[in-house]
Amino acid sequence: MLLPPEPGCAYRRASEMTIPSLVKDDALDKRLYEAVADRLEGLIGDGTLRPGDRIPSVRGLHRKWSVSVSTVLEAYRRLEDRGLIEARPKSGYYVRATPRALPEEPGASNPPKRARRIRGSMAYRLMAEVNRPDLVKLGAAVPHPDLLPLDALNRLIARALREAPALSHGYAVDSGHAPLRREIARRMLDAGCTLSPDDVVVTSGAQEAVYLSLRALTRPGDTVVVESPAYYGHLETLEALELKALAVRTHPREGIDLDALDEALGATRVAAVALVTSFSNPLGSVMSDAKKRALLDVLEAHDVPLVEDDVYGELPFEGPRPHAVKAFDRHGRVLYCSSFSKTISPGVRIGWCAPGRALDTIARLKLVANTASPAAPQLAIAGFLEGGGYDRHLRRLRATYRDHVRRMTAQIALTFPAGTRATRPAGGHLLWVEMPRGVDSTILYEAAARENISIAPGPMFSANGRYAHCMRLNAGLPWSQRLEDAVATLGRLAQRQLRGR
Ligand SMILES: Cc1ncc(COP(=O)(O)O)c(C=O)c1O
Repeated sequence: MLLPPEPGCAYRRASEMTIPSLVKDDALDKRLYEAVADRLEGLIGDGTLRPGDRIPSVRGLHRKWSVSVSTVLEAYRRLEDRGLIEARPKSGYYVRATPRALPEEPGASNPPKRARRIRGSMAYRLMAEVNRPDLVKLGAAVPHPDLLPLDALNRLIARALREAPALSHGYAVDSGHAPLRREIARRMLDAGCTLSPDDVVVTSGAQEAVYLSLRALTRPGDTVVVESPAYYGHLETLEALELKALAVRTHPREGIDLDALDEALGATRVAAVALVTSFSNPLGSVMSDAKKRALLDVLEAHDVPLVEDDVYGELPFEGPRPHAVKAFDRHGRVLYCSSFSKTISPGVRIGWCAPGRALDTIARLKLVANTASPAAPQLAIAGFLEGGGYDRHLRRLRATYRDHVRRMTAQIALTFPAGTRATRPAGGHLLWVEMPRGVDSTILYEAAARENISIAPGPMFSANGRYAHCMRLNAGLPWSQRLEDAVATLGRLAQRQLRGR
């Protein structure tokens, strides 16, 4: 609720202020209503519009900025969602006197310092839900098809099948379709990596890239360092390969704690470190360039290789994509893994590995595992990347994910029990929510399932059964009233658990 203005504080009306114009560039690469909302948010941020000010009427801004009434309305709705303005009946829109507080961020984790064998998790069940149309899928980290360039991809797959039937139906051996490996190498320049197409092995998603990398680096019984919380796909891979997980303290913004990592590598013989280095899953943490370099120093000192999972690296909310650790790797120590699952299509199963000095081993293991990844999707994705539409699509996708993460955070602030914390990721489409300790996310999962909502309960992300009061939410869905209501329902179910009924 908005606090009333302090006594004696008269509201300023929009007519008393100079509202700068909408700069044309503001609207590049964004939907227009987003540009309008962002511009107004900037004016609130820099104090041009102050708490309690009445902002221009919908028609006033429509005339002043030459944008449609519906654009202004949608922009105002976004600003309301962000907790920055509020509508007052028969009066107009006002800058909130106290912006709605966002949930606090979680602190760094503190996992036990012992390596553990992993035991089966709920991942199978979560993945089984991804194709259920009746569910609001806040659980699996799968982007909704409506946000992906599926029409363009479908056309390109059809063209590949029509115009290059022999290639499309053949084995894409030689580590994958050469034009795709070329495009991947070209795109990796943006991550700071200078690679030749021959340094790249095309895989069936990032999952296979990580699996093959860990398979190449370890023997059963070995120990692998992971983040805490860690992506459950990595934990499951460790389980399948009969490896032990050693979880290391991780900060929700900055990623793994390097002092703790150094200590762990000094105390335990470790075969590999497996990290999501930019916009991690589930925390959304991103390591700075300096930290990525320092990580390599630690790994060099202990002579340990890194499996770098970078599936979210192309999804920053602002600015250029972060460098990969691979960019600073002078000795081929990093086995870089990524895919197009979060940006183009998860179902075509196209990913890649740039394995450094493990190149020959990975190429051989890929051949043994399944000979090659399907050819037609490789041709289509190569065509999509060559065609130049990818960057435009990425700009839209980043803005959408940013908006949805913000909205979801605002909805959590409104509807979850007091004391709930949530991450503030700077990219990707995931939120990690830490609820008060009286909430059990596995019980919440069952209760939410009865309301046709899926979530990813916290213990899935732990080698030690931790994070019972946490969950991960997927914001990679089109925003809708149903989605907003689903988040509110989760808040209500969590409140109910706390009250003990
Ligand atoms: C960190 C991380 N790595 C790998 C994957 C799997 O990616 P793919 O579908 O390309 O195998 C996911 C999917 O959620 C992920 O979040």
